[in-house]
Amino acid sequence: MNIIEAIYKRKSIRKYVPYNISQSDFGDVENLVNNVQSLYSEIQMKITLIKEGIKIQEISKGIIGSYGKIEAPHYMVITSEEKEGYLENIGYTLEQIVLELADRGIGTCYIGGSIKKELLKDIMEIPSNQKPIIVVAFGYPANEPELEIKELENFKRKALEDIIIGNYEEKFREIFNLVRVAPSAINLQPWRLYVNENSIDLYANKGNILTKGLSHFSELDSGIALKHLELGCKERNITFEIKNQKLEDKKNLKYITSVML
Ligand SMILES: Cc1cc2nc3c(=O)[nH]c(=O)nc-3n(C[C@H](O)[C@H](O)[C@H](O)COP(=O)(O)O)c2cc1C
Repeated sequence: MNIIEAIYKRKSIRKYVPYNISQSDFGDVENLVNNVQSLYSEIQMKITLIKEGIKIQEISKGIIGSYGKIEAPHYMVITSEEKEGYLENIGYTLEQIVLELADRGIGTCYIGGSIKKELLKDIMEIPSNQKPIIVVAFGYPANEPELEIKELENFKRKALEDIIIGNYEEKFREIFNLVRVAPSAINLQPWRLYVNENSIDLYANKGNILTKGLSHFSELDSGIALKHLELGCKERNITFEIKNQKLEDKKNLKYITSVML
């Protein structure tokens, strides 16, 4: 996969063709899900593929609370233990799959909103120590060509200087733009990167009075941003080691983790 291309191809797809993806593509999705690397292996999480999307649609009145209904041929339901760092763990892990799917022409959309465990347990197995956290819809986009490479200007995002704080070498500009175009709940782009000489500290904005209810997603969003940062650094052969420095939170910013360069 050309990761830079995949990042610029991806966008949230909310309308899908009504038929299943091919057997071979579905097999690829199963492989990706079975082999994806998580951020914190000590936190148990599970991605359950729901091949017959109708099963989710039938219960979606009760589970999917925001942005209206997204009818897709398939869904992934992500369950996890609720341990420190579980949300960024989920974002980081899922985004690898989302980008791999974009590269194959398969559209995705993260679906936040509250999920009722009782309704889901009729259609899938939920480990007793885990809770359903988020759903990702997937399938072929209804409108071709949705997953084409887009110019940076076509992404509605905050300016680089609003999300990256500190001085950095020019070679990082492209990498930070890869972070900038990452998806986030209601496009809040809550991640903030503080750049030091040999490290980058990642923080998540806790939000304001209007968005506070969504603040748990800002940690998930930060995990997504961390994946984009990692892929950009790797592509540019820049060493990338995630090391939690246990830094203090800043005003309205929750410390997530650091990357040693
Ligand atoms: C954690 C998370 C939750 C999201 N929840 C929803 C949702 O419930 N419904 C929806 O239509 N889009 C949802 N989105 C998609 C965002 O609205 C979208 O990523 C953002 O507006 C940027 O647009 P793009 O993904 O097309 O680049 C979610 C995205 C993330 C990362």
